Parts: sequence; structure tokens; C-alpha cells
Amino acid sequence: MGRLKQRRFDTNQGKTPLDDTSGLLVEVHSREQLNALEFANVNKAITKYLLRHPTEKMAPFHYSWFLQTHREMFREVWNWAGQIRKSNKTIGIDKSQIPEALKMLEKDYHYWIASKMAMDEITARLHHRLVWIHPFENGNGRWARLITNIHLRKNELPLIQWPEKSLMDTSVVRQKYLKVLREADHQNFRPLMDLHRSLQK
Ligand SMILES: Nc1ncnc2c1ncn2[C@@H]1O[C@H](COP(=O)(O)OP(=O)(O)OP(=O)(O)O)[C@@H](O)[C@H]1O
Ligand SMILES: [Mg+2]
Repeated sequence: MGRLKQRRFDTNQGKTPLDDTSGLLVEVHSREQLNALEFANVNKAITKYLLRHPTEKMAPFHYSWFLQTHREMFREVWNWAGQIRKSNKTIGIDKSQIPEALKMLEKDYHYWIASKMAMDEITARLHHRLVWIHPFENGNGRWARLITNIHLRKNELPLIQWPEKSLMDTSVVRQKYLKVLREADHQNFRPLMDLHRSLQK
């Protein structure tokens, strides 16, 4: 028994084993390897949208573009990239309500922009609504953070420098990030606005 366990550990070379691999488009042997592949794919989307000022045509903030950005971030790694999740999770709304909720966000977002709402409140509301809907199987946090930054770039505002590495573990930073998102669940957007501001460069 002990030897078996040891051998299994060795084939992973001490690396965290993978859990759910259904939908993986590439052969991956460890969590670290998967993280690196996702990171490379996500970076292509970041470069596309944040290097230059995104035009209205490039980043229209409409329903199908919301799905398209997730696809661009994960299409080299997962076959469900850009597809609405097919199961319910402990986080996020019921799967059957996702398309309607994203279309509602599209409408609300354009209304907020046209209204006199302060831009930092729009930023927090947008970010919160995206993670609250939680449209995809995975990658929702990274997708919501990228869309939030595309919104800032489009509006010529300083980008949020998310400490992506610290957000991946159980760090104090992550605890704080989750706490302010939960406060926004109760329409209290101030703590999320403050977190955004503290990370804007
Ligand atoms: N306990 C929680 N309460 C509220 N929101 C949560 C909680 N746990 C996770 N989330 C939200 O879900 C996201 C994680 O979802 P998912 O795993 O799909 O995204 P990810 O991009 O893979 O992960 P991450 O955001 O950790 O980089 C978090 O970024 C956060 O927005
Ligand atoms: Mg995840």
C-alpha cells in the first residue's frame, strides 16, 4: 500500500495532481503544467485587449462578446471555453438564467455608462455582476477581472494590477478579495471600489 502510494506520488514528481480534467484539449500531468498552459492562453487575450486602447468594435460589451472573451482566454486548453456552464455550482446563479442575466448586464452596463454614475461605481458593479452570474465552468474570476480591466482601458482609466499569483492560493489577499465581493452581493459596493482603487496603477 505504502509503496503504491509512493509510486503514484513519484509519477507526479511531487506536483499537485489534477482533479477535473474533462474537456481538456491537451495532455497535462500536473496542476502546475495546467496553470502554465492557461496562463499562456490568458496572456494572449490580455495582450489583445490591454496593450492598446480597445475600440468599440473590438470590445462592444455585448452578450456574445462576453462569451467570446472567455473563449479567447481558454480555447487552447478547454473545449468548454466560451460556453455557458451545464451544471449548477455553489457560486453563481442557476444555469438556466445565465443568458438572460448576461443580456441584462449588457443593458445595465450601457445604461450606467450613459448615465451620470461615477466610473468607479460602474467598475465595481460590472466586476461584481460578472462573478455573481459565474457563467462558465471555470475561469470566471480571471475572466471577470480581465473584462473589468478592458472596461478601464476603454475608458482611459488606470488598470487594476491584480496580484494573480496571490489570488490563486489561500492568501490574505484572496480572503480580502472574496470578502469585498460578498459585500457587493448585498449592494455594498464601497469595499470593492476601495480594493480596486488600492490596486489601480
Ligand atoms: N466564497 C466565495 N464567495 C463569493 N465568490 C466567490 C467565492 N469563491 C469564489 N468566488 C468567485 O468565483 C471566482 C472563482 O471562480 P472560478 O474558479 O471559475 O474562476 P478562476 O478564474 O478559475 O479562479 P480565480 O478567480 O481564483 O483565479 C473567484 O474569483 C470569485 O470571484
Ligand atoms: Mg478556478
